[in-house]
Formats: sequence, C-alpha cells, structure tokens
Amino acid sequence: MTLVRFLKADGEVDRVVEAEPGSVLLDVAQKNGQPLEGTCEGQMACSTCHVILSKDDFDRLPIESEEEDDLLDLAMHVTRTSRLACQIVIPDSDTPLTVKVPPGARDWSGR
Ligand code: FES
Repeated sequence: MTLVRFLKADGEVDRVVEAEPGSVLLDVAQKNGQPLEGTCEGQMACSTCHVILSKDDFDRLPIESEEEDDLLDLAMHVTRTSRLACQIVIPDSDTPLTVKVPPGARDWSGR
C-alpha cells in the first residue's frame, strides 16, 4: 500500500490514507471524502478533479499527456505542479504521495 496525504487548500493535512498501487487517485480521493467532483468520470472533459501535487511527487510521477495539459490550462487555481487526479495511477512506493485539493474547480464538461 502507498500512503496518500490529502491536504486542504490552506495546506493543512486533512487525512492520510492507504491506497492500492495501480488504483486511480480520483477514486482514492472520492472514497476518502475529498471534495473532487470528477464530473466526467475520467474522460478528461471537466477538470473538476484538479489537484496540486508536491514538487517531489510531481517530478517522480509519469508526465501528463498533452490533452491533460490543455485541460489544466482551463482549470482554476492551477500551479506548476497541478494534475488531474483521474489521470494519476498510484505508484507502488514507500514514499507518501502529497496531494492538495484546491479551493474550487471549474467544470468544462457541460454536465
Ligand atoms: Fe473530469 Fe478528471 S474527472 S477531467
């Protein structure tokens, strides 16, 4: 199991959970009460699953696709370490993943 530390928008730790390697970060977040809508259910059409990773985690995960990058350009509160949680597969790692949930999200899916 890999630990995931969810931070609130102000940086305070909300909770630390165990996640199955290979599972999708959005699913882990939603199962653990994080306010990520994931409106398009991972179809990369909404950006409501936007999260901000620690710099170290951003650097060690596989890089985002061009499509993900384009959608992130439209998300609110984007930083240089922003990702879409529906596109992140939990790595098998002893190092916890640190994930901040931004204060708001924009839904581009039209749902
Ligand atoms: Fe819609 Fe991730 S769930 S972009």
